Amino acid sequence: DKANYRHFMAKEIHEQPEVVGHTLARYVDMATERVALPVKLPFDFNTIQRVNITACGTASYAGFVAKYWFERFARLPVEVDVASEFRYREAPLRKGDLAIFISQSGETADTLAALRYAKAEGAHTVAVVNVPTSTIARESETVLQTLAGPEIGVASTKAFTCQLMVLANLAIAAGKARGELSDEDEAKLVHGLVEVPRLMADALTTELQIEKLAHRIAKSSDVLYLGRGTSFPLALEGALKLKEISYIHAEGYAAGELKHGPIALIDETMPVVVIAPHDRVFEKTVSNMQEVAARGGNIILMTDAKGAEEATVESLVTIVMPDMSAAFTPMVYAVPVQLLAYHTAVVMGTDVDQPRNLAKSVTVE
Ligand code: F6R
Repeated sequence: DKANYRHFMAKEIHEQPEVVGHTLARYVDMATERVALPVKLPFDFNTIQRVNITACGTASYAGFVAKYWFERFARLPVEVDVASEFRYREAPLRKGDLAIFISQSGETADTLAALRYAKAEGAHTVAVVNVPTSTIARESETVLQTLAGPEIGVASTKAFTCQLMVLANLAIAAGKARGELSDEDEAKLVHGLVEVPRLMADALTTELQIEKLAHRIAKSSDVLYLGRGTSFPLALEGALKLKEISYIHAEGYAAGELKHGPIALIDETMPVVVIAPHDRVFEKTVSNMQEVAARGGNIILMTDAKGAEEATVESLVTIVMPDMSAAFTPMVYAVPVQLLAYHTAVVMGTDVDQPRNLAKSVTVE
């Protein structure tokens, strides 16, 4: 049931501190603040040379964030694919390599077919799934469950952030196993994860401001989302979320790609959502914002207090997020991104939980 919320999607956005916290508690020993995976992995990260992550839609963007984590924490090369491309391309997999599949429902036809392909090629398979009785869970070698609880809204929200929580822990475990992270590094990272549920609750306090902003976004025919580093896949997710529930056209881009084409779109009518926590690529994103501002684009900046102070670019709205460990910002910045799509859809009067042409579980190719 929707509790006191107007839509399941609103309820599910608000549930995130709790369910991401449950997921955290399943993957971390809270007393020692160390990663403690609930299952023993049937492979050694030391002998893995490459990881393939395969999923569809929002789940693939969780995988895309995880690529940055695996590469940074474990120096492990990762390829991310949407399942419909991976399976028909017959991507070469080496026997014993690792293939990760991410799916809320565990029933997505293309992801399932990709899993079967990877198994046939002799890869180790790990499924990050929300439904433990699903086909994808049953057929993969290792199951890492997300504890999001049932997700009813067609647009994925809490499943996404729980997927990120599981993948962050797996990437830290890989870094530890490969000797790329010391005990101290691990402790620092896990401490950062432990903070996430509380930070997500803080992020929910931006809702009133976002609700106001949604009236402005609802007047637009196109919206651009920009980000660098792990904020890039989140920009893709923001654009997907907006288009699927509000039917407003949106695109996500790596901020550095702006000048290679999409900048041609920018004029006074174009809202540009910039996801820019004050991290190691912040300065670079500020230069991209300046390019947008110089062409009259309306910037909606999602950043922290330090970022807001140093941005030196005029924004239409700045959404100030809590200060946090730079590694895990996607989980926390997902909240305003989801809220913006949600409230825009409410203003547009669309069927938020059951958007046209979409089904919760895509069991056909
Ligand atoms: C977007 C959305 C979809 C799903 C995709 C994969 O909000 O919900 O893009 O993420 O269809 O579904 P699962 O995770 O069930 O495999």
